[in-house]
Amino acid sequence: MIHDNLNVAANGHLCFVGRDTVALAQKYGTPLYLMDEEKIRDRIRVYKKAFEDFFPEGSVPEYASKAFSCKQIYRIVAEEGINVDVVSVGELYTAVKAGVSAKNCFYHGNNKTDADISFAIEQGIGHFVADSLDEIYAIDAIAKQKEIIQPIFLRVTPDIDPHTHKKIATGSVDSKFGIAIKTGQALAAVKEILTLNNIKLSGFHCHVGSQVFDSKPFCNSAEIMLEFIKEVNEQTGYMAKSLNLGGGFGVRYVESDPVIDYRSKIKEVADKVNEVSKKLQIPVPKIMMEPGRSLVADSGITLYTVGSVKEIPNYKTYVSVDGGMTDNPRYTLYESKYTVINATNADKEADVKAVIAGRCCESGDLIGEDIPIAKARRGDILAVLTTGAYNYSMASNYNRVPRPPVVMLTKDNEYIAVKRESLDDIIALDE
Ligand code: LLP
Repeated sequence: MIHDNLNVAANGHLCFVGRDTVALAQKYGTPLYLMDEEKIRDRIRVYKKAFEDFFPEGSVPEYASKAFSCKQIYRIVAEEGINVDVVSVGELYTAVKAGVSAKNCFYHGNNKTDADISFAIEQGIGHFVADSLDEIYAIDAIAKQKEIIQPIFLRVTPDIDPHTHKKIATGSVDSKFGIAIKTGQALAAVKEILTLNNIKLSGFHCHVGSQVFDSKPFCNSAEIMLEFIKEVNEQTGYMAKSLNLGGGFGVRYVESDPVIDYRSKIKEVADKVNEVSKKLQIPVPKIMMEPGRSLVADSGITLYTVGSVKEIPNYKTYVSVDGGMTDNPRYTLYESKYTVINATNADKEADVKAVIAGRCCESGDLIGEDIPIAKARRGDILAVLTTGAYNYSMASNYNRVPRPPVVMLTKDNEYIAVKRESLDDIIALDE
């Protein structure tokens, strides 16, 4: 099977973390998100250890919590001792309520309001990752009112093409994120920051894109960023001590996606950082990265119940499930590929190619097209794999569909991390 937390039981049912998924579907209802807690912890440890082994002391990965945000994941991340990337006061608030120290949080995003900045400072945010000059002035002014000196990173764009879907590529000059190096604006911004009294520049940040399997885009951006650090130092005397290379390592959604060894990819990036720093004769900075998807995606699956199977002769077979774009909008948004298994008949050959359709009143509400699957009937349980990232966090109540619960599994424990939304939750804010 594509991930090592899946196997088929003697009764033909799909098992996840050693448990019968059909039984779990009966127990908790569907749609249902399941997550493998130990796999999340293992993956965090791989990153953390690689950072300790290959980068200078003090280099720590951050979990990009937009991938999956709820109190329990922040508790896990805090227990494992890595930092947290938040992109809204909502994520920050959830993290703090879960016991994460705001000091260990990095607040990203291209448009933080004055209210966001004030709230984050009041929480004691460790760093803002400042995205524009407007924001830099706002942070400085609010920090002044609050009589503090606020540490920040400056997000710049290294102009790298990571060869990924254009909606998830973010490192080019023409981007809503960051300040371009190529146009000279990033250097000008640094000069400006150095004149301000209530912010302290800790280093630079970049992010090239998501679902990247090769270390090359990271190595290329590391080289550009180190050259930028050198140029800034020559022009201003300021030497950045930290460099954040962003997130983006990929995961396997389908068998044809490559298997990725994160430790060796991180080593390749570290080798490049060391080589270029030496060539430029600058100290090797502390390195940060912000993996989201690669920490949680393959720790999650979603279970659905099949409602109808519609065969249109000489056209297609539509298998409709009791969820869809409301719990997983990724096919609708990016035509993302998924592996789907008929969990009730996981021992049977995938002999049909089907469209897996959601329940929303929207033709584009699909989980995927041309998906090989063992013939399905009403009542069968379908498992969509690799849904631990950007599924629950991107879920919506479109058509007033309640969001599914998240159940966490370990070898000897099973618990609800997020409850199922009720119909009363759906109307809770209506006056
Ligand atoms: N850091 C920054 C600044 C980012 O913008 C992102 C993702 C990450 C880190 C984490 O990237 P990851 O390691 O998860 O690839 N909703 C899309 C992905 C959008 C990602 C946006 N930023 C999806 O479902 O594929």
